[in-house]
Amino acid sequence: MSAKSLAGASSNPVHVAVIMDGNGRWARERGLPRGKGHEAGAESVRAVVRACRDHGIRYLTLYAFSVENWRRPREEVQGLMGLLRRFMEHEEPLLHEQQIRLRIMGRLEDLPRLVQKKLTRVMEKTAHYDAGQLILALSYGGRTEIATAARRIAEEVRDGVLDPSDVDEKVFAQHLYLPDVPDPDLMIRTSGEMRLSNFLLWQLSYAELYTTPVLWPDFREPAFAAAIDAYRSRSRRFGGVLPETEGAGC
Ligand code: IPE
Ligand code: IPE
Ligand code: MG
Repeated sequence: MSAKSLAGASSNPVHVAVIMDGNGRWARERGLPRGKGHEAGAESVRAVVRACRDHGIRYLTLYAFSVENWRRPREEVQGLMGLLRRFMEHEEPLLHEQQIRLRIMGRLEDLPRLVQKKLTRVMEKTAHYDAGQLILALSYGGRTEIATAARRIAEEVRDGVLDPSDVDEKVFAQHLYLPDVPDPDLMIRTSGEMRLSNFLLWQLSYAELYTTPVLWPDFREPAFAAAIDAYRSRSRRFGGVLPETEGAGC
């Protein structure tokens, strides 16, 4: 690994991943139903997609619905699924205009048929764009992703396609949902919680973590810019030591 890649955080991240949290609290603070918080959160998604373009960030992964979120009350889940479909309908032109490719990671098959259809259609129509990628983690769980990869590897070994001695980090990563996407450089969590909540457990190994008390519906361009600034001031060492001249921290 080169000294440059050790020091790398003075430049902008290539891939930002976000745990969009705090919609319910935002609504409660205003005496509104939780659904209103999710609607306001959709505005922040728009703002952050635009901010990524302005900051030259190529990959944005948004944790939109976890495998655990199916435990929420039926009306909330239905509301979120409806919001997702409407969001795709409204935002599809923006993806075309900015040449952004939509991708999904997670158990797409768990989502209501109409939502699946809409997402699949937009993914197909934007598949050739390469100005950036918007990745939605939907019915996503980090452990599910890792267990699914392990099962696929076991099947390939059984079928004689893979030898157990071939299985290393690189081969394992190739069996995850989106193997061509680089690991996130920066992971942002809003609303002050200090946990991963089963998000990208493999891929976040060396991400810089940034948490903010700002609730997701209030997280707009200035809050995003603050996260990017914080990232740029970090010194990324990946277990190595920075050259003296670059001022290695402790
Ligand atoms: C994040 O906001 C949205 C989803 C998880 C879908 P929450 O709904 O978790 O908001 P809080 O954590 O209850 O405030
Ligand atoms: C994480 O938020 C999942 C998403 C943002 C989609 P949660 O609100 O579901 O996480 P917990 O329950 O606080 O861990
Ligand atoms: Mg939450």
